[in-house]
Amino acid sequence: MSVLSIQSHVVHGYVGNKAATFPLQLLGFDVDPLNTVQFSNHTGYPVFRGERLEGTQFQTLVEGLRLNGLLGAYSHVLTGYVGRPSSLEAICDLVEQLKQARPSTTIFVDPVMGDEGKLYVPSELLPIYRDKLLRLSHIVTPNSFEAELLTGAPVRTAERACEALRQIHALGPRVVIITSAELEGDPGRLHLFASISEGGSADGPPAPSVRGITISFAKRTGWFTGTGDLFAALMLAHLGSIGDLTFEGLAAGCEKAVWTMQQVLAKTAEAAAEEAASAERVGDGAAVARARELRIVQSRDLIMAPQRVASRALA
Ligand code: ATP
Ligand code: PLP
Ligand code: MG
Ligand code: NA
Ligand code: MG
Repeated sequence: MSVLSIQSHVVHGYVGNKAATFPLQLLGFDVDPLNTVQFSNHTGYPVFRGERLEGTQFQTLVEGLRLNGLLGAYSHVLTGYVGRPSSLEAICDLVEQLKQARPSTTIFVDPVMGDEGKLYVPSELLPIYRDKLLRLSHIVTPNSFEAELLTGAPVRTAERACEALRQIHALGPRVVIITSAELEGDPGRLHLFASISEGGSADGPPAPSVRGITISFAKRTGWFTGTGDLFAALMLAHLGSIGDLTFEGLAAGCEKAVWTMQQVLAKTAEAAAEEAASAERVGDGAAVARARELRIVQSRDLIMAPQRVASRALA
């Protein structure tokens, strides 16, 4: 299995391809990282420096791969943070070509646009995701804000989340995972909603039968970055190829990914606590951000062998 992973790169820290590559490798995948940006660090630090890839530069890299016959081998394409409309358009063209050359390629799209009511990409990306890339995708992992952007209505109740899943299936993908939503009347908890439309062909119109699951867990206080990117990588590995995926496989994959996430976050919070507290006291924002970087390397054992988290621990 080999993944073309189109995401950001940071020199220091763990977001984008830095959060996805090592876990995917641990789980047995060859990974070809194509970096959409190269930044010094993630954008939650007081400053960051670096560059974004233009659509033409993306096409140049793809051309090199094509001329060497390297494009035919991917079992999966994974997309994450893309900062430029021209790059996202170029990704759509590439995905179309890869699907033609190898129809079994699984297309996994994390439609990274924002979080907690704030967009962190140009607004021109929304229609490209909604009307183009999702149509070409098999598996998508919006957070609740991204699900709201894609469907045009808030996702703050379980009923509304289920409706959003159906609306997003109608945009193309067979599997939709709303990675976390905080619901009205249930503060302090997060809910994952996932569904698979069964019975249709991988690329046909959405099948009428949609089966879903929900997993809930305690919301950790304080912010983490790279969680969505790590989560997408874990999901990709645990779901495998779209052609073989069943409802039972979806449910088991979501559980494993959530268990691993909760354990990585526990390890991160514990390791960060002391460091971050003293940095906060002196108001050193960079040291706080650094202290809160995901402990991905330190979590390698539990990434490789996900361990059940007692539902008490998730509750
Ligand atoms: P995207 O990258 O598409 O913007 P995201 O980063 O907003 O997505 P989240 O839904 O926030 O993705 O996080 C993905 C997973 O990480 C969740 O399903 C959950 O398991 C875990 N997670 C993230 N934040 C928290 C938190 N505060 N408490 C507990 N778990 C969390
Ligand atoms: N890529 C870059 C460059 C970022 O700065 C960030 C967040 O700051 C991310 C990706 C995504 O982080 P998350 O997975 O938490 O949405
Ligand atoms: Mg989030
Ligand atoms: Na997400
Ligand atoms: Mg994210």
